[in-house]
Amino acid sequence: MKILSLIFLFTLSLVANDAVHEFAKSEECQACHTQIYSEYYGSMHANATPDKDVIHGAVWAKHPANTKANRYLCGKCHTPAANNLDKMLTKGEKAPADVNNETHQEAISCAYCHRIKSIELHADSNTNIIDKTPNKYYATRKRGLDSPFHKIETESNEHMRNGNVCIGCHSHRMNKNNLNVCSTNIANEMDGANCVSCHMPKVKGSTSSINESKAHSFHGFAGSHFNSEMLTQYVDISVLRNIDNFIVNIDNKTSHALLLHPMRLAVLRISVKRDSETIELEKEIFVRVLGKDAKPAMPWVADTTIKDTMIKANEKRAVKREFKLLKGDRVDVVLGWFLVNPKAVKKLGLDKEEVATKFNVFKKQSFNF
Ligand code: HEC
Ligand code: HEC
Ligand code: HEC
Ligand code: HEC
Ligand code: HEC
Repeated sequence: MKILSLIFLFTLSLVANDAVHEFAKSEECQACHTQIYSEYYGSMHANATPDKDVIHGAVWAKHPANTKANRYLCGKCHTPAANNLDKMLTKGEKAPADVNNETHQEAISCAYCHRIKSIELHADSNTNIIDKTPNKYYATRKRGLDSPFHKIETESNEHMRNGNVCIGCHSHRMNKNNLNVCSTNIANEMDGANCVSCHMPKVKGSTSSINESKAHSFHGFAGSHFNSEMLTQYVDISVLRNIDNFIVNIDNKTSHALLLHPMRLAVLRISVKRDSETIELEKEIFVRVLGKDAKPAMPWVADTTIKDTMIKANEKRAVKREFKLLKGDRVDVVLGWFLVNPKAVKKLGLDKEEVATKFNVFKKQSFNF
């Protein structure tokens, strides 16, 4: 019995330690991958910690894992290079988010992402399996070039090659009530989608300063905070004029909903310019509200979706306005979003933060009749 339990404990500690690896610092990549580094440095991946991302920080400040348990379990996806990730993921341990811990500040680091060897699929959220070799990075190009600093592996990693290396963190996240809080695709039907081709398009500039190349994959990760103009081509807007009304069609050619995080609120603003007059028509709101007892609730409390008007994957949404267009009229439409639903801004103490309160314009178009 004693031997058995010893073996059991030993195995447990192996599993726990397996979450912790040492990663090269992102700064070490800067000298040779200068452009990639500067794009990455401004991205949400480099800034996913509670102190650098005020929105994440505000939610974490209210979260019971912080206020009651003092354990930053968000680290699994927000600071996965942390040197105490195992404690963050173990019930009963204390492991706060620590501004003074350099490995926390690395957030989702270069080396972390490039060492994802495979992805384990789980019901609550997936898990990245990290390659144990510290200086070997998975990649996709077959230039046959070597680096003096590290090994490169381009053949063996299915997830790198098919562009789905992202789904360890982005696939889905269930809360304790088994409610899907946020997902790119809950059913894991990723075959048709490629996160990398849309979010990391090829842009001008060399991959490294050692071998001159014309283009590299964009590492600023176009998304709802930054660089959204790189994604406008995946959402088409058109206007159809009928006799007594008109319809604004929004064609989302994306393999996931227009916005994913439950805090977001998208808005379609519609106005008609007639002669010198501008007529504002009713705006359309796209939102997914989580709740409990028919009232909106924080994601960790919610047990149901009380409203979901978000534009879905590959959906063509028709928004009708009972307004008769005349010859010479111009219809102006603006599609954009608030990163934080204005109704939640105050409760989260974010009403003075521009990033949380400003309206982000995604696409603006005019149609003449
Ligand atoms: C001393 C220079 C140097 C440093 C430092 C360096 N690299 Fe590289 N890296 C290279 C060279 C050279 C290549 C070959 C590809 C090229 O130049 O286009 C390369 C290629 C890569 C590739 C594969 C590109 C492909 O072919 O698909 C990845 C991924 C990569 N580096 C990641 C990193 C990461 C992560 C770091 C920091 C932890 C880093 N590198 C630091 C020089 C460097
Ligand atoms: C399974 C991975 C995963 C875990 C665990 C996780 N997150 Fe996230 N989180 C994400 C991803 C992916 C995004 C980006 C989603 C998007 O932009 O749609 C995100 C974004 C967010 C945002 C939006 C940030 C912004 O700037 O708009 C907040 C807030 C947030 N998470 C809070 C938390 C908190 C608090 C925890 C821990 C209690 C947590 N998350 C745990 C994956 C995770
Ligand atoms: C280790 C977990 C992890 C991996 C792997 C990961 N992400 Fe993320 N990603 C996050 C988290 C966490 C956030 C939210 C950070 C925040 O807002 O604080 C995020 C945010 C984003 C955003 C939103 C950016 C914005 O401007 O709002 C995009 C786009 C994104 N990731 C794309 C990708 C792509 C593409 C990949 C695969 C190449 C990927 N991610 C891999 C965890 C991850
Ligand atoms: C066909 C192109 C396309 C594909 C494929 C795609 N996306 Fe997106 N993604 C978009 C568009 C368009 C938006 C909305 C505009 C924006 O956020 O700038 C978006 C938004 C996002 C956001 C921000 C959502 C939010 O609520 O803040 C994240 C995170 C993201 N995508 C991750 C991914 C991941 C991970 C994959 C792969 C599983 C993926 N995307 C596949 C086009 C795509
Ligand atoms: C969220 C995950 C993620 C992070 C973080 C990340 N990368 Fe990448 N990186 C990728 C993916 C995926 C590709 C493959 C892109 C493709 O196939 O087009 C890639 C490609 C590369 C390449 C190959 C060159 C190219 O143009 O395709 C290099 C070099 C590289 N990354 C270095 C870095 C460095 C340096 C950092 C940090 C400054 C970094 N990466 C951060 C996911 C990531």
